[in-house]
This record gives sequence, structure tokens and C-alpha cells, in this order.
Amino acid sequence: MRTPTRRTLLGAALAAAGTGLLTACSSGSPGSSDSMKGMDHAGMNHGPTSGTAGTPGTTGTPGTLGTPGYLAPNGPEVAAAEAARKPGPERKVALTATETTLDLGGRTVRSWAYGDRLPGQEVRATLGDTIAVTLANHLPQPTSLHWHGLALRNDMDGVPGLTQADVRPGASFEYRFALSHPGTYWFHPHSGVQQDRGLYAPLIVEDPREPLAYDKEWVVVLDDWVDGVDGSTPDAVLAELARGMGGMDHSGGSGNGGHEGHDMPGTSGTGSAPSGASPSRMLMGARSPLLGGDAGDVAYPFHLVNGRLATAPETFTAKPGDRIRIRLVNAGGDTAYRVALGGHELTVTHTDGFPVEPATTQALLLGMGERYDVLVTAGDGVFPLTALAEGKNATALAVLRTGGGAAPDAAVRPAELDGRLVTAGQLKAAPGVRLPARTPDRTVRLELTGGMAKADWAFNGRRYDPAQRHPVAAGERVRLEFRNSTAMWHPVHLHGHSFALPGDGPRKDTAIVLPGTTLAVDFDADNPGLWMVHCHNVYHAETGMMTVLGYRA
Ligand code: C2O
Ligand code: CU
Repeated sequence: MRTPTRRTLLGAALAAAGTGLLTACSSGSPGSSDSMKGMDHAGMNHGPTSGTAGTPGTTGTPGTLGTPGYLAPNGPEVAAAEAARKPGPERKVALTATETTLDLGGRTVRSWAYGDRLPGQEVRATLGDTIAVTLANHLPQPTSLHWHGLALRNDMDGVPGLTQADVRPGASFEYRFALSHPGTYWFHPHSGVQQDRGLYAPLIVEDPREPLAYDKEWVVVLDDWVDGVDGSTPDAVLAELARGMGGMDHSGGSGNGGHEGHDMPGTSGTGSAPSGASPSRMLMGARSPLLGGDAGDVAYPFHLVNGRLATAPETFTAKPGDRIRIRLVNAGGDTAYRVALGGHELTVTHTDGFPVEPATTQALLLGMGERYDVLVTAGDGVFPLTALAEGKNATALAVLRTGGGAAPDAAVRPAELDGRLVTAGQLKAAPGVRLPARTPDRTVRLELTGGMAKADWAFNGRRYDPAQRHPVAAGERVRLEFRNSTAMWHPVHLHGHSFALPGDGPRKDTAIVLPGTTLAVDFDADNPGLWMVHCHNVYHAETGMMTVLGYRA
């Protein structure tokens, strides 16, 4: 059942997504504009040094990708898998990544965003659609777009140096792929720590046979914010985290390829604050029992809901008794959020796009990259939707208003935050999306290693090397075994697939692994290509906690 309210909402969003054709800006050779000054040094090498990257310096035509012995991201198997999705009507979207000024609500910051809004304009499409997103890069750095959580064709996955070439400054790239699962997703660059700027937006894939009944829908995107505050940038934060802890080698040396080199501290050409120019953002001793110890590495000055400070929150209006579907997305860089809606219970219906057996809870914990959909029945009054930066003693706020009354205080902490909290591991997949029982054909063991002291985050003690492959074969049931030997929690993320948590657990693409624990997740190798596995703490990923699963040729 769909109410007029919801239809109106969807119609408007679809109309918006279908318009706004791009004024493409694909002319202009990189290096010719003023903003490119200083970028042409060794750290900006885009060349494929490991035989994994596409044709350097071009966009739109990735050329031959891949590694001998492995399926190529743009090979015939990938095209066949895409054809099997039966790509439907095309939905065009134009995105411009640009430097801009963002108003967080009484405080403006210079940052990078999609257009001039934060989060970027939501992309909404329908299951079966083909989306055709033209990304125009008006940034002073190469960029990319990754479609977090989607099982899409590999050459559209947006990982420079692995599945495509960088989208260089002044160039554009069309991401074109079929949507094969409904649900709550999001997108962000896969280039350095750009995701920790304002470069993120929700992607909602509607189910034409939506089984849930609700009156309204509220997309709620959480984010930790540092960019443009007192001279800070994510690049400077990355540099500080690395520098402050023993001095890594950032020369972008052997095995790093052009992909990582340009992102590493000290080599960025975008005017990251030099050493000492901005306040320290390093966080020591943030503790959270829920996260099993150390909560995070970065002290963010702000925490935002839908791009707004708690002192100027977004207000969502509804009628008492309305059923509201809230789609929660954690787009943060280094912050888990504990979320509650004052005066309400939450009925969890989905996580990471996939349905679960409905479960009620008072609070939820979202690691970076995770999503939860919940249903609430609105009470009568004004209610805080609070996101507690777990272990960091700070909150973000949005407001649900169905009646009169004063707005909640910016720092309000509804009692539900300390109430019952259902974790992903306690949920069950909805019967229709349960992974059928099967003995794994292969187990890929990934030990999470390293620490803040040396900023040597890695899998199996080995810093990210884009040329490394953990082999899998099409048709296999694969078990990924994450053993966390570090003193910190990590939200681990697999591209291109959704895995199942143990014991008929939910289908997810991102899962929290607590320190000292092992999490084994299973997936079917049904989407050929080269796929990243990484920690979704963007600073852990950039310092090395990433690797690649490769389908064997
Ligand atoms: Cu949102 Cu590779 O991740
Ligand atoms: Cu991590």
C-alpha cells in the first residue's frame, strides 16, 4: 500500500533525478588550469606501475584492465553478468564534484561536494533501471565514484587503479550500470580520503513491489566533519595520523601504483594544511564498551545529520500516527554512531539494503558505511533523533515534529540511547534473502593487523598493494574470515557482493569486527571481477587496511 504522500515524494525525487542534465566539462587538459599548479610531481603519477591500472590519463575508456590469470573488470564475463541483470530503462543523473562553500547551519565551511549541497542530491531509481551517472570532475584532484553496497558490474565499481582510471581534473566519466537489488545505498569517491570531505550522497533503489507499508520516508545521513574547520582538511588529518606515530614511508614506493601515491600525506597537491597549520585532530583514549575498547582515531569538531549542526537541525514533519520509514546511513570517516529517536521504538526492517526479520530496538549502532532501515509510528509532539558519536562524547541531531512544542536542546540525549540495542549479529535475514546453507568451497583468511601507534593498519600485516589478489572462482561459496588482532574495532566492507552473517544472519556488505574477535561471513561468488575488501575507516583504509579479491580467469 502506498499513500499519496509517499507517491508525491517519490515522484518529485524521480523528476529531480531525471533532470539536471550535465553541462559536461570534459575539455581542458589537466594541468592547464591555475588550480592544477603544483600537482605535477612524483606523487601525482597516474601510471599503472603494477599492471593493474587502465590507460593512464584517459577517462571514459578504461582500456584493458586486469591482471594475468584473473578476470578483467571490463572483460566478457563482466558483460555477461551485466546482461543477465536485464538492464532496464535508463535514468540519467548529472553530478559535479566541485570545491564549494557549505552552510552547516550558522557555520560555513569550504569543502568539496557534489554541487553545492550536503549531502549531495539523493539519487533515487527503481529496481531494474539502468542508471547513467555522468560525473564531472571540477576538483583540483583526480576523483572517482564508488557505489557502496551495490552488486554492480565490476568496471563501474569506481576504484582507480583497479577497475578504472582516475577521473582527472576537468574530465568526466559516465557510470552506467543495471540496478539489481532494491534498498538503501550511498556513493562516495574511492580516491584517498576525499570521502571525508562533503563528497557523499544517498542512493535509494525503490522496489516496485515494495512489501512494506508506510506513509513517509526520511533519509538520514550521519557524518563526522572536519573539512574546512580552522584550516583542517582530511588530507592534513591523514598526514597527522601517519606522521605523529612513527613516520611511515610515504614515497608511494614499490607496489603502490599511481593510485595511492597521489593520496598519501605530503604529496597532495590541493593545499592540505602543512604541518602545524591546523589544530591537532588526533584522538587518544576514546573508549566505548559497545565497540570493545578504542572508539576512534580522529577528534572531529562537528557531527552532522543531513549536513546540519545540532544547533540548526533539520526538522522532518509528519502527522501523529504516521508510519515513517527512516533510512539511516553512516557516511562518517572515523565515527560509529549510536542512534535513537526520543519517545519511540525502532522496528528494524533492513540492513545494508537487504530485509531482515523485523526486530524492535530502542537504539542502533552504525559503523562507517553501514545502513539500517527502520519503521517508526510517530507520536504526537517534537522528538529528537540523536546520533551519539560513540565513545567521542558528542552528538548530532535531527528533529521529528508532528505537533506543537519547543525544539529539543541541541545536546539532548534521549533515554533510548541507553536502552536496548540490537546489533547486526542479533538480526536474522528475511527468509527470501537467506543465503542457502552450503559448505564453503574456500576460506579467505584476513587478519586485521596494525595500530594507531605506527599507523600500520593492514590485512595480514601487509599494507595495501593493488597488485595483490586473493583468488576466488566464480560459482564458489566463499568464506571471509576476519580475525581482529588489533586493539580497535573495524567496519569491514566487501565490494560487489553482500555476505551473510553467521547463523542465518542478515545479508550485509559492511560489518563491525570488534577487537580480539573473529567474524566469518559467507558469500556466493556470483559477480565476476576484481573487488576491494577494506576497512571503512577511511584513515585505516588509506594507511593500508585494504586488499583485493580476484576472480580467477
Ligand atoms: Cu564505501 Cu570501498 O567503500
Ligand atoms: Cu579499521
